[in-house]
Amino acid sequence: MTLDLFAATDPYQPIAPGAMLLHGFALADADAILADVQAIAARAPFRRMFTPGGQAMSVAMSNCGSLGWISDRHGYRYVAADPDSGQPWPPLPPRLLRLAGAAAERAGFPAFVPDACLINRYAPGTRMSLHQDRDEQDFTQPIVSVSLGLSVTFLFGGLARSDKAARLTLSHGDVLVWGGPARLRFHGVLPLLDGRHPATGACRINLTFRKAG
Ligand code: SIN
Ligand code: FE2
Repeated sequence: MTLDLFAATDPYQPIAPGAMLLHGFALADADAILADVQAIAARAPFRRMFTPGGQAMSVAMSNCGSLGWISDRHGYRYVAADPDSGQPWPPLPPRLLRLAGAAAERAGFPAFVPDACLINRYAPGTRMSLHQDRDEQDFTQPIVSVSLGLSVTFLFGGLARSDKAARLTLSHGDVLVWGGPARLRFHGVLPLLDGRHPATGACRINLTFRKAG
C-alpha cells in the first residue's frame, strides 16, 4: 500500500528507456529563469523563423549559448551569431547551465554541459509538428527541455515518424530529458490552448538545452 502510494506520487517518472519526466524540477527557479529569458530576448528578440520551404514557423524563437539553432531557406543549423543582429547570441546564464546539468544527471546523464539553448515561445494556437532533434554533432548527449507557463500536450513518439506517439502533459516547472536510446525519438507539441498563467500570461515558454557543437 505504502509502496503504491509512493510510486503514484514520485515526481520523477521514466517515460521510456533514456527518457525521464522530472515533474516540477525547475519550479523553484521558474521566476529567475523567466527573468533570464526576458534579458536574453532584449538582446536577441523572439522571431518567427522560416522553414527551408519558405513557410513561417508559428512558434517564436530565440537562443542563448555559444551556438543557436536557426532555420531559413538554406536549412536547419546551429550558428554562433544571431542572423538578425550579427551579434553573438547572449551567453547561457550560469543558473541555466546548472539547472540543465542537474536535470540531466538526475535522468542518468552526468556531466552534461550544453552549449546551446533554444527558447521557444508558444502563443495559443501554436504547435510544433513531430520532428527529431538531429542537427547536433554528438548524439551521446541528451536534450533537456524545461517548460514554463501554460501547460501543453507533448507528443513523444518513437524512432520512426509513423510510430504512435505517447501524450504527456508538460506544465510550469516540468523538465523532460531524453537521451541515449531515446535521443532521436520524434517529438512535438499539440496546439497550445487558450489560457493565462500567472508567471507568463497567455503563453508557454520552452527552453531546450543541447550540446550542439
Ligand atoms: C522542441 O522540440 O524544440 C520544443 C519542444 C517543446 O516545446 O516542448
Ligand atoms: Fe525538438
